Amino acid sequence: MGLIIDGKAVSASVKERIKEETARLKEQGIEVGLAVVIVGEDPASKVYVRNKKKACEEVGFTSYEYALPESTTEEELLELVNRLNADDKVNGILVQLPLPKHLDDKVIINNILPEKDVDAFHPVNVGKIMIGDYSFLPCTPAGVMELIAATGVEIQGKECVVIGRSNIVGKPMAMLLLHKSGTVTICHSKTKDLKEVASRADILVAAVGKPKIITADYIKEGAVVIDVGMDRDENGKLCGDVDFENCKDKAGYITPVPGGVGPMTIAMLMQNTLTAAKVKNGIRSEEPTAPRKERAMSDWNKLFLHT
Ligand code: GUN
Repeated sequence: MGLIIDGKAVSASVKERIKEETARLKEQGIEVGLAVVIVGEDPASKVYVRNKKKACEEVGFTSYEYALPESTTEEELLELVNRLNADDKVNGILVQLPLPKHLDDKVIINNILPEKDVDAFHPVNVGKIMIGDYSFLPCTPAGVMELIAATGVEIQGKECVVIGRSNIVGKPMAMLLLHKSGTVTICHSKTKDLKEVASRADILVAAVGKPKIITADYIKEGAVVIDVGMDRDENGKLCGDVDFENCKDKAGYITPVPGGVGPMTIAMLMQNTLTAAKVKNGIRSEEPTAPRKERAMSDWNKLFLHT
């Protein structure tokens, strides 16, 4: 029992599809460009930005990197954002968070044109997600939807429990599951009996930020368990919110950390940037999270590792 969902393989398959589509756009004279802005010297942010640039190269996008000093003022950053808003070569703008303390994330995000906001953090895009009329999905929840789609498990009518209520993951995650007709419960730090609620879930998404708090007694036999956590255990080793070793035999499908949700986030950023380029050029987009039923069974099997 228990299949490990291989996020790297699913991500590679998404990026391959994006690469093919990008090549077709190039034949029509359409280039896809992503601008990534980083302010300051945060080491984790530098790694993320490097990975985003690498992913752009992999799929055939042009990346424009702006590394600004820690001392950058709000006015200077807004000037760059406005310049990128007006630049036709730039389809997507990503300002890496967290910003240094003297800069207000909200002010900066609100000044990115919604049609270039490939993070889907702008209030216009957040609102569109609420009403199910969206071009962009926030990258992490979108990646989770792809992983669930890869299992072939239908969301409709299922008990879905999301643990965590952040604006970036928990809230949009719940909305995407609801749009697929899941019966959705959002749990958080004040939830009375988390174990009881979580163990009802056919699909459990953990986005709490606490290492290994989800043990086997929190999950239903055969559930799809998706771990969004990026935590450190008592030895400083990277782990998730789910105690993987403890849960892997009880879950039907489970994502590892690392190698689960993480690789999907960047793939979905590439997806959003491609969508931005297509929308700008009047090309209709397929639904990004549709399960790809036409995939051969042998291909599906490549996306899982047996526990
Ligand atoms: N910092 C960590 N994750 C993200 C992300 O998805 N987008 C942005 N802009 N900053 C981040």
